[in-house]
Amino acid sequence: MDSFKNLFFDFSRNFGQSLPKSRTKGLFTLFLTLVLAIIFFSPLSNKSPAVTSKNLVSHLHPGSNYISSLSSIVPSEPHFISQPPRTCTDAVTFSAVNKSNETSRMHESVATHENIISSCDIFDGNWILDDSEPLYRPGSCPFIDDAFNCFKNGRPDSDYLRLRWKPHGCEIPRFDGLKMLKMLSGKRLVFVGDSLNRNMWESLVCALRGSLGNTSNVYEVSGRREFRTEGFYSFKFQDFNLSVDFIKSPFLVQEWKLTTKAGMRRETLRLDMIQASSTKYHDADIIIFNTGHWWTHHKTSKGNNYFQEGNRVYNTLGVTDAFTKALKTWARWVDSNINSSQTTVFFRGYSASHFKGGQWNSGGSCEGETVPITNDTYLSPHPWMMTILESVISEMKTPVFLLNITKMTDYRKDGHPSIFSQPETIRRPGMIQDCSHWCLPGIPDSWNELLYVSLLASRNKFS
Ligand SMILES: *[C@@H]1O[C@H](CO)[C@@H](O)[C@H](O)[C@H]1NC(C)=O
Ligand SMILES: *[C@@H]1O[C@H](CO)[C@@H](O)[C@H](O)[C@H]1NC(C)=O
Ligand SMILES: *[C@@H]1O[C@H](CO)[C@@H](O)[C@H](O)[C@H]1NC(C)=O
Ligand SMILES: *[C@@H]1O[C@H](CO)[C@@H](O)[C@H](O)[C@H]1NC(C)=O
Ligand SMILES: *[C@@H]1O[C@H](CO)[C@@H](O)[C@H](O)[C@H]1NC(C)=O
Ligand SMILES: *[C@@H]1O[C@H](CO)[C@@H](O)[C@H](O)[C@H]1NC(C)=O
Ligand SMILES: *[C@@H]1O[C@H](CO)[C@@H](O)[C@H](O)[C@H]1NC(C)=O
Repeated sequence: MDSFKNLFFDFSRNFGQSLPKSRTKGLFTLFLTLVLAIIFFSPLSNKSPAVTSKNLVSHLHPGSNYISSLSSIVPSEPHFISQPPRTCTDAVTFSAVNKSNETSRMHESVATHENIISSCDIFDGNWILDDSEPLYRPGSCPFIDDAFNCFKNGRPDSDYLRLRWKPHGCEIPRFDGLKMLKMLSGKRLVFVGDSLNRNMWESLVCALRGSLGNTSNVYEVSGRREFRTEGFYSFKFQDFNLSVDFIKSPFLVQEWKLTTKAGMRRETLRLDMIQASSTKYHDADIIIFNTGHWWTHHKTSKGNNYFQEGNRVYNTLGVTDAFTKALKTWARWVDSNINSSQTTVFFRGYSASHFKGGQWNSGGSCEGETVPITNDTYLSPHPWMMTILESVISEMKTPVFLLNITKMTDYRKDGHPSIFSQPETIRRPGMIQDCSHWCLPGIPDSWNELLYVSLLASRNKFS
């Protein structure tokens, strides 16, 4: 374990990126409004030690990691795990497919959803051209933050909406919002994490809503129309008695204020405390956690006098050590507070960013990207955060299903809002671009499609 930490320690030093520091609260708020809710940082440093990734993952779940973690939420084991991998019959390249052929083949092969999940890694695949409608029409969903609403902000190209995720080893059923609503009726689903999880939450709300003829019984319980400022939001699908909630918790652990001996208030991060929430969610039916982008924040990546455990504030602690401690705190909390026969736990993996020519706060851009990456050579190595996450999850008592979307997002340099995170009226040359979040409709819709597939596979629990 120690050598593991040391390995990451050096790496962590490469992460320091300073943020411009605003002195006044007003400025800070402005800064927040314009920027913070947007991007948080460059991702996948090329310096990530790919070698460690291999070592760590291989002890995780030999053979197929992903299946083991899912199998624990699917009772029908023997059938489930022993399926040999389906052979891949598609030309899985970025090219048009014969739609009618595709469709008929799909119907054959989705006979049992368990088979799909057991026979292939649904996160290993590529993006193929697909001209069916997005899960909801651009501009049609009132619950998308303006910053993700590229259509409203005038993004002119739309090819990025014509791609569908296609796992290499199998066909997955298309998202069926009505079916999902029925599956989830009477239940509570909660997203807990940062603004990338908010991105996914808004996508799911809109995708489910898009399947309804009459949408007047879908609303945020407090009547809110913006989803960035509060720590808690809850959408109700009244006809299905379903809640789809978002709880803001960017680090999962608790942000803290410490009073120093000199009487100064200082911000720290309590690595030993799960973030308190205004609403209890440990007994929700489904919880989808994430954290990631905030761990490359200047304070966390430098780690000087910021990380705290009990009364101890570390003079210096590498971000990888801190991240590991925080995830272990989260894991302990899950293991002692969540009853896995009632609650299905997901963790959504790191979502790739695509800043070119700088970081998010130093001129990095993704403007004008209209096609995805198609050559794997140009993908980043599996990020260190994911390696740690996989290791922590593998040691938990509670089965946690990893939505391993890192690679699938890494292809999609074309899916970010870039300058279309803002309406034209306030766009300025040289403005900060959002190359972290995703336009909606867009890439997070596909994460929800995979969430849907995963729930189908565990349908004993959701029928
Ligand atoms: C997640 O996907 C990456 C490839 O993108 C792979 O290297 C890693 O092993 C996967 N993790 C699990 C737990 O399946
Ligand atoms: C359609 O699928 C059948 C078998 O499933 C195959 O023989 C045929 O070549 C396919 N047609 C096209 C145009 O891909
Ligand atoms: C697609 O496949 C269907 C059924 O196999 C076939 O009838 C049709 O001609 C094909 N279309 C094209 C454009 O290849
Ligand atoms: C709605 O679901 C909640 C649990 O989420 C349950 O307590 C309540 O009784 C349900 N109400 C109706 C009318 O079914
Ligand atoms: C939609 O549902 C609401 C509430 O059930 C109802 O009042 C309204 O008339 C419906 N609208 C349409 C167009 O059916
Ligand atoms: C967990 O939930 C199951 C099913 O509701 C229940 O039977 C069991 O007693 C619960 N376990 C604990 C430790 O609360
Ligand atoms: C991917 O890119 C590398 C490096 O530019 C190149 O050598 C390779 O041929 C490319 N592969 C494909 C399939 O285009």
